Amino acid sequence: MERQAIVLAAGKGTRMKSKLPKVLHPLAGRPLLEHVLDTAGELGSDKPIVIVGHQADVVQAPFKDRSIEWVLQTEQLGTGHAVQQTLPYINEQVQVLILYGDVPLIQAETLRAFASAVDQAPMGVLTFFAENPTGYGRIIKDEAGGISAIVEEKDADTTQRLVQEVNSGIYLVQGAVLKRLLPELTNNNAQQEYILTDLAEMVRGEGGLVKPYMVPEPEEVSGINDRKQLAALERYFQRRAADQLMLAGVSLADPNRIDVRGKVVHGQDVSLDINVVLEGDITLGDDVVIGANCVLRNVEVASGTVIAPFTHIEGAQIGANCNIGPFARIRPGSEFSDQVKIGNFVETKKTTVGLGSKINHLSYVGDAALGESVNVGAGTITCNYDGVNKFKTQIEDGVFVGSNTALVAPVTLEKGATIAAGSTISASAPADKLTIARSRQYTSESWQRPTKKDA
Ligand code: UD1
Ligand code: CA
Repeated sequence: MERQAIVLAAGKGTRMKSKLPKVLHPLAGRPLLEHVLDTAGELGSDKPIVIVGHQADVVQAPFKDRSIEWVLQTEQLGTGHAVQQTLPYINEQVQVLILYGDVPLIQAETLRAFASAVDQAPMGVLTFFAENPTGYGRIIKDEAGGISAIVEEKDADTTQRLVQEVNSGIYLVQGAVLKRLLPELTNNNAQQEYILTDLAEMVRGEGGLVKPYMVPEPEEVSGINDRKQLAALERYFQRRAADQLMLAGVSLADPNRIDVRGKVVHGQDVSLDINVVLEGDITLGDDVVIGANCVLRNVEVASGTVIAPFTHIEGAQIGANCNIGPFARIRPGSEFSDQVKIGNFVETKKTTVGLGSKINHLSYVGDAALGESVNVGAGTITCNYDGVNKFKTQIEDGVFVGSNTALVAPVTLEKGATIAAGSTISASAPADKLTIARSRQYTSESWQRPTKKDA
């Protein structure tokens, strides 16, 4: 069914105590509002209407490339007033879903169940059971189980305050109902606001049915007002992500100590140790093992590869059966073939490494192309930058680079070349030969240790 979505995001978010608008605070690495927009998209709303007010331009900036109808609410006179601003864009023929920029974890699946429960009714209200309902609108029902009113905390009498089924603030309303009834809202209530919750009683007054649907997990409709609540929802999100990974066949050393801030695609029997952070698009092949305290961002790792603890990898492709780390830093543009070994305190950037090649200790290899079966000795550095431009280093198949070598790019080490330890190589090294570029060792036969002079 075609549907429109409205997202309220005009509030100030005072309790965040932040320069950043509340709906831009990240949860699982993405702005709160982005979570909501993605969910709205899944529900078939191709151009959501987003109501902005405080710092409107700042809120809009990260979403420049998305199809969104931005509507400005210059003064925040209540949730009903907010939705009134969208009336020119509302289609009378469709059902309208109302969501909030600071209620990020509502799931498309839940909304689909909500929609089928509401069906063609003029209005549906997503509710939840609150152990402590303080502050929420109470759901007042008639004998038939329909909603007769939503009463806000400040307007509720003592009996109404005892009601524990409360309003999540998420609704499905027929476009025609919004068009007809919203202009009639008044602010005759304790808060003197135009409150959207009044709509329930108005629909009911017309003889329409307002259907409740209770969410099974209240966290899904939890709103964020301060950073404590943000952190609590982050934990809830992460625990859910961890559970999904485990149910899909990934072993986690501790499901409470992993953070997923993006999308993980994985094979079978992947194993993740504690404090692994996965960001952006991550693909892990069968049997990949990631050690403790590794951070991976936009990385593909093929099957059988082991990433040892404290390794940081970003924008890289890693082949099968490689050994990376511990303490390696793999920067963007690193592409490793199979059976590659990258050891401790090695940094690579924009570098391809061929089958079975090794850079085992304390090296910087940038803007380089390494062939197969290359061995790069400890402390080897590509001098790829002259302060202005970057240059390439080519290391062909079977090259052996001795320890503590400086490779001054642009430079090529030809197939099978051996470079003596401690060399500074600034011209091509020919194939299959030993190249030495260091001063010769000299021993003085006549030298004597100095002795203490008499005063
Ligand atoms: C609202 C509901 C309450 C429900 C609760 C669930 C109303 C009147 N009450 O109360 O029944 O239990 O949510 O959390 O709707 N906003 C605007 N423009 C405005 C006013 C609000 O964009 O003029 C946005 C806010 O930024 C916020 C959201 O709407 O994200 C909710 O507004 P808020 O005033 O916090 O309503 P609650 O008191 O939480
Ligand atoms: Ca609120």
